[in-house]
Amino acid sequence: MAWRELVRKEFSPPEKVKILDTTLRDGEQTPGVSLTPEEKLEIARQLDALGVDIIEAGFPITSKGEKEAVKLIAREGLNAEICGLARCEKQDMDDALDCDVDSVHVFIATSKIHMDKKLRLSRDEVVRKAVESVEYCKDHGVTVEFSAEDATRSEINFLLRVFREVVDAGADRIDIPDTVGVCIPIGMFNLVRKVKETVNVPIAVHCHDDMGLAVANSLAGVEAGAEEIHSTINGLGERAGNASLEEVVVSLKYLYGISTNVRLEEIYKTSQLVSRLTGINVQPNKAIVGENAFAHESGIHTHGVVTSPETYEPISPVIVGRVRRLVAGKHAGRHGIKEMLSEMGISLTDQQLKEVTERVKSLGDKGKEVTDTDLLDIAEAVALYPRKIEEKVKLKELLVVTGNKVTPTSTVRLEINGNEYTSAGIGVGPVDASIKAVKKLVGEIANLELVNFKLDAITGGTDALANVVVKLRDENGRIISGRGVREDIVMAGVEAIINAANKILSIRHASKNKE
Ligand code: KIV
Ligand code: ZN
Repeated sequence: MAWRELVRKEFSPPEKVKILDTTLRDGEQTPGVSLTPEEKLEIARQLDALGVDIIEAGFPITSKGEKEAVKLIAREGLNAEICGLARCEKQDMDDALDCDVDSVHVFIATSKIHMDKKLRLSRDEVVRKAVESVEYCKDHGVTVEFSAEDATRSEINFLLRVFREVVDAGADRIDIPDTVGVCIPIGMFNLVRKVKETVNVPIAVHCHDDMGLAVANSLAGVEAGAEEIHSTINGLGERAGNASLEEVVVSLKYLYGISTNVRLEEIYKTSQLVSRLTGINVQPNKAIVGENAFAHESGIHTHGVVTSPETYEPISPVIVGRVRRLVAGKHAGRHGIKEMLSEMGISLTDQQLKEVTERVKSLGDKGKEVTDTDLLDIAEAVALYPRKIEEKVKLKELLVVTGNKVTPTSTVRLEINGNEYTSAGIGVGPVDASIKAVKKLVGEIANLELVNFKLDAITGGTDALANVVVKLRDENGRIISGRGVREDIVMAGVEAIINAANKILSIRHASKNKE
């Protein structure tokens, strides 16, 4: 709560802020998003479990399905106040009232540009419509929240006049929308302060993110005394979206010490549900709910968080229903890799850990993402090649010739028991040719037969990691598997054969010593 004292000393924020969630209305206005009534209901239930105070369930006039969805949600018996949006038009308000909502959110634009170009109404006509609409909804027994659309581009004295008159007409709450996201925090602060000096009802702010300032502007509104914030899950909404609910509530709590009714531990689940049903993926670096929000890659950071999480985590991921993720990549360090592997139940020697880290870094240098499974495969490959198994067979050189008019040919030079041997092989492809060349040499010393060769790409792309598992049979019928993981398929295949050969030789050596 770094700023709590400062904010309290300098400003007058409320102790608690209400959250109006408009994921199902402004959020659904995200280009390309359209939800069925059942999907909207599913999200509304989760928003209720999340603990938002008000669910703006939709804009009933827009379609039959939308009206049905708002009705379904209003009749669900949720704890949250259910709200429907309406323009200052009788049919809009009737459609919202038909849905049995607890509140109607009525709006009309108050900026010159909207009044002249869109509404074609004079200032007095706008005031009259606003006042009559508030009265109409109040006469129907619902709570009324009034928004002056495009408030931040409206002439201030006119805006204050509209607010004064709608409050006199019975509006229960006033909302200040930054409809096209052009406000700045100090501007929102001053605006909210002026509105609070003018009317005596709770003030809400509704900020769009066109300049990436929606959350900052919302928080500035709270600093000046706004008691309600309109926000959406994952920051969905028209154009660049609205203030993101998760960023708003976590900032309120941890930076300002201001509480909300939101159960933070439900945040991630809600974000995932909304992302799945809307089909809008959350950007990986999105605060709080993005894939990387609690992921650490660099050696310095992973070492820090593993030793003491608060070094690089402003809040614990558990608070918002998440877990920390350590990522293997080119910035990785041994501490992080060790921790990741130990979470997978793998413990390596220092030497093996060093080799795994080097391989991970080398992949990272090639721009590859190393997933957990990749890391596991690399670790297993390294561990299967344990230093305690004496490396009787070592690859010294591999040369492959291939092309569309040549027979794939491979030449290998191996060190076996301290002596060097060279062999060549031809095959249907470079892998086949190399395996044959290697097999010739190791077969000579161990009489090995290749019974199985399996190749998987374990990372995507043309520079994928190749995972080769081979099975060799020795003269006693013993089947030994070997594995190789490399960016180069041929190298992975050769490594797998050599790995298996060394295991067989060391088993033989061990059993000879026993005799
Ligand atoms: O952005 C806006 O102005 C709105 C209003 C309907 C409140 O969404
Ligand atoms: Zn909006």
